[in-house]
Amino acid sequence: MGSEAKLRKLIPSEQIAATVSRLAAEIRHDYHDKNPLLIAVLKGSFMFLADLVRQLDLPLEIEFVRISSYGGGTESSGAVRMAPGALPKLKGRHVLVVEDIIDTGLTAAFLLDYLGRKKPASLKLCSLTDKADRRRIIINIGYRGLAVPDKFIVGYGLDCDEKYRNLPDIYVLEQ
Ligand code: IMP
Ligand code: MG
Repeated sequence: MGSEAKLRKLIPSEQIAATVSRLAAEIRHDYHDKNPLLIAVLKGSFMFLADLVRQLDLPLEIEFVRISSYGGGTESSGAVRMAPGALPKLKGRHVLVVEDIIDTGLTAAFLLDYLGRKKPASLKLCSLTDKADRRRIIINIGYRGLAVPDKFIVGYGLDCDEKYRNLPDIYVLEQ
């Protein structure tokens, strides 16, 4: 109460769609003969994943992991947590991690390290957005969508305290 959150449109749905199409083309090109395993990070990447895979006309599998570095609100806690869940055998698989945003990079670094220990044939990262100014660790984003400013963004899967995930465009949340 008192501090009304204001939304300012940053990336319209048309631009998101064009970005998803570009990333899908790159992934199709690189993985057409590889039967990749896409591992999407819940919850934020659900909408991106759904749009992305519908443009990947190649054999693939999809898994989800629930992982977060945010306790709530808009500041990273720095501590990464992963909910225990069964993943299939990764040994020899071509694994592609699908993220909504790379911010500090701590979440992706943790997950890539964890998955890398399972000896996949290849391990790459695809992220719809990249908030590079906030990076605290070097992360190689193999399939990188859109650069975003150092602002808190919501919509198209991205939330603030579980709200705004359903918005078709991406907005800056101005408190
Ligand atoms: P990182 O570990 O700091 O790179 O944070 C990655 C995760 O934090 C993402 O998967 C998002 O869930 C969340 N996150 C980071 N920045 C934002 C933002 O601007 N809006 C919504 N969620 C964010
Ligand atoms: Mg989140």
